[in-house]
Amino acid sequence: MPVKLLAISGSTRAGSLNQALVDLAAAEARSRGAEVTPVDLKAFQLPLYDGDLEARAFPDAARELKALFRAHHGFLIASPEYNGGVSGVLKNAIDWVSRPTDGETLVALSAFRGKVAGLVAASISPFGGLRGITQLRQVLSTIQVMVATEQVLVPFALDAFDETGALKQPLPAQLLGGLVARVIELAERLEPPVA
Ligand SMILES: Cc1cc2nc3c(=O)[nH]c(=O)nc-3n(C[C@H](O)[C@H](O)[C@H](O)COP(=O)(O)O)c2cc1C
Repeated sequence: MPVKLLAISGSTRAGSLNQALVDLAAAEARSRGAEVTPVDLKAFQLPLYDGDLEARAFPDAARELKALFRAHHGFLIASPEYNGGVSGVLKNAIDWVSRPTDGETLVALSAFRGKVAGLVAASISPFGGLRGITQLRQVLSTIQVMVATEQVLVPFALDAFDETGALKQPLPAQLLGGLVARVIELAERLEPPVA
């Protein structure tokens, strides 16, 4: 079975630099034989996580997103950095998808345990979104995702992409290839469960 990856942007705005970056990662993964499914978090219209809401009825959108995560071996994720931290939209999605459903135990983490992830960030600042994806690495590690040690930061991102959507600088482009190759290799070696 080919490696199946979800491509996720933590920014849902039109013209997102992180969407552009994860699109490049997705294209790179496809060129290396992976199947990639893009996820538009905005389309899911997830409510903010709330335990009372969850207790009343697990939202259909969250259940649907969790099923999508479960059906893939890993994740290519681009997250903007907001005020030194990870995108709230992305964290809220992860929180819902981490929740047990259908009689699972609290620690089942069926959409995450043993899966792999590769992290990238684009930022208008000189720091490239490092603090955001450092937090994201910690969050994903907590829920038992094997996060590739490689990562790609694109600082000054307003000027980082050419008119075709490619990265202008060779270094981040090369790093992106290495990251995607590692994610695919990890998925092939670890054979994460898919359902
Ligand atoms: C609420 C908010 C907080 C931000 N904080 C940071 C920050 O801490 N560090 C940073 O590098 N950029 C920060 N930015 C700027 C983002 O890098 C910039 O908006 C970027 O384009 C967001 O990614 P996107 O293009 O994928 O939407 C912030 C933007 C917003 C809207």
